[in-house]
Amino acid sequence: MIICGIETSCDETSVAIYDSKSHNFVSLVSSQVDIHSKFGGVVPEIASRNHAMNIMPIFEEVLKKANIDLNDIDLFGVTRSPGLIGALFVGVSFAKGLAFGLKKPLIGVNHLFAHIVSAEIENDINPPYLGVVISGGHTHIYLVDECYNCKLFAKTIDDAVGESFDKIAKFAGLPYPGGPVIEKLALDGDENKIDFPIAMKNELDFSFSGLKTNVINTISSNKYKLNDIAASFQRVVVDTLVLKIENIVKLTGVDRIVVAGGVACNDYIRKNLPKKLGKTCYFPSKKLCTDNGDMIAYAAYKLFRKRKFFSNGETAIDVDEFLK
Ligand code: KG4
Ligand code: ZN
Repeated sequence: MIICGIETSCDETSVAIYDSKSHNFVSLVSSQVDIHSKFGGVVPEIASRNHAMNIMPIFEEVLKKANIDLNDIDLFGVTRSPGLIGALFVGVSFAKGLAFGLKKPLIGVNHLFAHIVSAEIENDINPPYLGVVISGGHTHIYLVDECYNCKLFAKTIDDAVGESFDKIAKFAGLPYPGGPVIEKLALDGDENKIDFPIAMKNELDFSFSGLKTNVINTISSNKYKLNDIAASFQRVVVDTLVLKIENIVKLTGVDRIVVAGGVACNDYIRKNLPKKLGKTCYFPSKKLCTDNGDMIAYAAYKLFRKRKFFSNGETAIDVDEFLK
């Protein structure tokens, strides 16, 4: 099958062509990060407008790059939720126009599901596994069964991990996105310098808002080097993830772990999470951790067997059952 994946949920416009027979991906991503960094975060209206301008040229360029014709596409996949609603509408409307016009099936893909299964693209792993999503908007742990049914075991009750990286960086006057900047600062810091507490230790759900405030107050106190604060913060993030994952491994008996989403680009986390857990963690490559069309095409292919196609009456939604 030739599958076209379309992603426009946040600030990356991306289209991918996946050939399931050869397991080959051709894709393009247009990031708006430089546009939004001026504002210290993603501005939804600007994101939607840029998606609307970028989607058609990117789609045409990907077809050229993949050396295929419009009619060669067998299946379309598009991010349907969650995300910025105006941004999602651009991708969904574009995909609906193409799929319905060409009389090809269309699958509305959950963005978090796509982040999780993207770990399968370059790793030899199949469900059942635990899918840990650590991104700018979400910190969710799912059990993914053999049929790709997902059961939510933990989620953040306030800030997502990436959101706390971004908010801490913003407070410190550092550019958006904060994750990579904090990671870099932490390289020259002592991770054991500050003992930030782990929130909600005895529960499955996460809370990062208290940690974020604690870190911000520590920055304000001017008592510690920013490098030490960054390193100590990252250590607590890993310790928190370890604690929650261990609890869910105990509860489910599943100890194969996939870690995905933008924050999974962080090398400190990539190295220390598996080490502290004492288990292999399957990460997508960094290119596939941030938002991309490849994961949408791959997820659509995996969901194809469920035959849950997008109907004419359906459209994008910002929140769905998957998150609850
Ligand atoms: O998955 P993603 O591209 O978009 C969402 O769906 O949210 O994730 C973006 C998030 C941002 O919060 C960004 O700061 C974070 O991923 N991020 C990182 C790193 N690279 C990106 N966080 C920590 N360390 C990094 N190296
Ligand atoms: Zn994402």
